[in-house]
Amino acid sequence: MKAQVPVYIKSIIPYPPGKPMDELEREYGVKNSIKLASNENAWGSSPMAIEAIRGALTDLHRYPDGSNYYLVQAIAEKTGFAADEVIIGNGSDEIIEFLVKAYVEKGDEVITSHPSFLMYQKVVQVRGGVNTILPLKGMGHDLEAILASITKRTRLIFLDNPNNPTATAIRPENFHTFLSAVPESVIVVLDEAYVDFMDPEMRVDVLSLIHNSQGRCGLVALRTFSKAYGLAGIRVGYGLMEAEVADALHRVRQPFNVNKLAQVAAIAALEDTEFYRKTLQGTSEGMAWLQSEVEKMGCTSYPSQTNFFLIDVNGDAAALYEAMLYKGVIIRSMKPYGYTNVIRITVGTKEENQRFIAALGDCLKELGYV
Ligand SMILES: Cc1ncc(COP(=O)(O)O)c(C=O)c1O
Repeated sequence: MKAQVPVYIKSIIPYPPGKPMDELEREYGVKNSIKLASNENAWGSSPMAIEAIRGALTDLHRYPDGSNYYLVQAIAEKTGFAADEVIIGNGSDEIIEFLVKAYVEKGDEVITSHPSFLMYQKVVQVRGGVNTILPLKGMGHDLEAILASITKRTRLIFLDNPNNPTATAIRPENFHTFLSAVPESVIVVLDEAYVDFMDPEMRVDVLSLIHNSQGRCGLVALRTFSKAYGLAGIRVGYGLMEAEVADALHRVRQPFNVNKLAQVAAIAALEDTEFYRKTLQGTSEGMAWLQSEVEKMGCTSYPSQTNFFLIDVNGDAAALYEAMLYKGVIIRSMKPYGYTNVIRITVGTKEENQRFIAALGDCLKELGYV
């Protein structure tokens, strides 16, 4: 008999990434497509990061620094955490994996919301853990239902804040109340992939919460260079946590998990305040313009604490997604998440946003949604 894949692995549905632009051009015969589907940075990457990558190209025959020394120092300085409280990952995705590997044994439970970022549930499945999946309340995490679902076997709770795909955030005071009610034996993971785009008063003070956790559950914050820093393609993210938790994660990571180019790029991106400022300003202006334009067309836009937002298009979202592909515009349909009439788009450059609005106007008419 051939080698068998365990049932809990066979039941995993691979993560559905946004459609790549060259795949669309190949399959649909369109040119000059734009992608507003994966919450990437429309302004490219930090020029300082690209320069740093060029500078490191002659040194690729050597292994990277397995301790990520300089990047850890730079993050510690930026965040106020100590170096032994910082973990670097091959994308923040990898730190999600470290957490599950380190804390979840077969049969242990992990709580997540639906819809939220899909990777949490997948890595739990790989480990043979049990996913406790709770529906959102309105468009946000249902913190009361999450508390009520904690059992003796609960190890981790993943909260993406803001939540992907709904772009909502938990009010900091509600998060504090929630955290103080979680048993000490559980770790709450606050995934802050979009923290840079949040209103400042909505941000959770993870530094003081992680540093003052006596008698309370553990807290881990996850951040990424993939969004505001424009480095999605090179894969680098980080986690902030108590040193004891970081020590556990170091035990399960590969010795050279973050490549040399990613390390130098991330350090340079942290210093590139001009690119960061341009990204935040462009996102905020683009969001305001897009939301007012879609409202003028008779669609409903949902508030956002991120670089993406949801739009109710008054008709089947999957059909609209398909029609937009023929116009060379890649978006996401939220139909697979149960929001039949809703699409998700990422804010693009001014030109991309204009293209999206023009294509949306045409498609809404073609499909008879307006
Ligand atoms: C909520 C959330 N967490 C994590 C990630 C993954 O980030 P990274 O590129 O750092 O792996 C994403 C990516 O879209 C996300 O939306």
